Amino acid sequence: MKKIVVANWKMNPEKLEQARILVLSLEHRVNQLDKVEVVVCAPYIYLPPLSHYCSLTKLGAQNVNWLAKGSLTGEISAVQLKSFRVSYVILGHSERRLYLGETDSMVNAKIITALKYHLTPIVCLGASDRAKKTEMKKLLTKQFRAVTAGLSQAQLQKIIFVYEPVWAISTMKNSTPADSEHARDMVVHIQKLLANKIGVGKSKNMAILYGGTVNRSNVAEFAKHPEIGGALVGAASLDSENFWEVIKEFNRESIHKL
Ligand code: PGA
Repeated sequence: MKKIVVANWKMNPEKLEQARILVLSLEHRVNQLDKVEVVVCAPYIYLPPLSHYCSLTKLGAQNVNWLAKGSLTGEISAVQLKSFRVSYVILGHSERRLYLGETDSMVNAKIITALKYHLTPIVCLGASDRAKKTEMKKLLTKQFRAVTAGLSQAQLQKIIFVYEPVWAISTMKNSTPADSEHARDMVVHIQKLLANKIGVGKSKNMAILYGGTVNRSNVAEFAKHPEIGGALVGAASLDSENFWEVIKEFNRESIHKL
């Protein structure tokens, strides 16, 4: 099973040309990788032009609507994304939950639609406050159950989950990255939740990522844990050298085997 490193560009970069340069610098190097899949989740407006440059690098969106078509001003559908060779979509990111009122049931509906149209959902889970470990696990369990409600075993196996605590995201006030043992524990917890639904064997074939201030200086700490199946990277993904170091570190570590 390959590890997965995902760039979450958010509302960056400011110019399409900068986006093109970032993608091309990846595209020239990803053929050196054998254990990592690289996904760039760009703003919607950059997806059509970038689709001409991405071949080994996969393209992802940062959101999708739960309706496949219809009248919802300002929204984008899964069908539209598919027509531009987009194959992944980030869902349930904490910034959307915090500032745009996205709820677990919206995330659940979006997951169902994304899967129906063959987009791989990258689903973020994580608490907004630092709580005791047991509390965090309870919160994760609650979020996991809500966003996966009604999904079949086959559907669940197509999802990439990310443990991304809100307090670890680099742009949050007073943020600090999670310590890597904590990240590993929470990833293992998500894996257990999956195992309860699809069985231990299948759950171990799923990459579960960590997100929150991953960069070239701390990536080795996260990548050394075989349970952590990759990373969701925000700020560091906007600097091609920084992001490449993150990718290389996951590629260096052995394939996830427990
Ligand atoms: P960060 O962002 O790497 O800048 O903390 C991660 C994210 O928000 O997905």
